[in-house]
Amino acid sequence: MKISFIGSGNVATHLALAFQKTGHSVLSVYSKNYQHAVRFCKKIKRCCPVRKISELNPTSEIIFICVTDREVEKIVSREFISKKVALVHTSGSMSLDVFSEIPNPCGVFYPLQTFTKNIPVDFSNVPVLLESKNRELLKKLKALSKSIGASGTVVNSQKRAWIHLSAVFASNFTNHLLSIAEKILKNNKLNFKLLHPLIMETFQKALRVGPEKAQTGPAKRGDSKIIKQHLKLLKTEPRVRLLYERLTGSIVDFKDKG
Ligand SMILES: NC(=O)c1ccc[n+]([C@@H]2O[C@H](COP(=O)([O-])OP(=O)(O)OC[C@H]3O[C@@H](n4cnc5c(N)ncnc54)[C@H](OP(=O)(O)O)[C@@H]3O)[C@@H](O)[C@H]2O)c1
Repeated sequence: MKISFIGSGNVATHLALAFQKTGHSVLSVYSKNYQHAVRFCKKIKRCCPVRKISELNPTSEIIFICVTDREVEKIVSREFISKKVALVHTSGSMSLDVFSEIPNPCGVFYPLQTFTKNIPVDFSNVPVLLESKNRELLKKLKALSKSIGASGTVVNSQKRAWIHLSAVFASNFTNHLLSIAEKILKNNKLNFKLLHPLIMETFQKALRVGPEKAQTGPAKRGDSKIIKQHLKLLKTEPRVRLLYERLTGSIVDFKDKG
């Protein structure tokens, strides 16, 4: 398939690499900062950086719009893109309706995974949530996800929004909590590596037996003495202390109400 990109960040880079590796042609890329498009093309052979969206390769069958969510709408409403080319965004939270005013075939290709530009990603079995009202495009998106080893599943915008919300809890928030754990150790001249086996077991166990069953710790045990001790240690960190109190309350609520 012939593909172009708008945006050259985390998702665009990983998708372009995966598409190219599996025999698709990544023809051109437009990014807000032209130098970023140039940098993208150093990784994606035979892809051309362009200075305007209207200069994207006209033989492209699909343009992937991989930009920050609030920019998708602006691009779609302001830019003139040939009616023949399909437009696809990769956002978890943005409805397909963002394309409602334009005549092009439109769709969503949301890979349910976390992407960081220079960290390799294995697409095998990554769920890709697909949506389109255009049958031909939906078929193409299914074929694309299959070609990179991912598993394409058709999901409507409403369900995708719930999935995205749960993904924020499962991935972004847990990662933030790991950052806090790392900072607490660093502040006390201790190494984050100490926690590696605990982190591995926590996630593996949650997947093995389910997260609710896997929960342990002072909040689950109702150990108020330890909780008070932890809050005392956090007296100079009011925001983290508040987070500790809220999360403790949430664990207690789950325990009591299920
Ligand atoms: N990262 C993830 O884990 C992940 C996972 C699944 C889905 N997504 C979704 O994928 C989309 C892209 O996310 P990302 O993580 O790849 O973002 P990102 O790394 O922050 O990259 C955003 C890209 O958008 C470009 N951009 C912003 N405004 C633009 C405009 N007006 N015109 C052209 N390009 C513009 C930026 O260009 P410059 O660099 O030139 O400024 C940058 O290359 C979002 O909808 C996000 O929700 C992300």
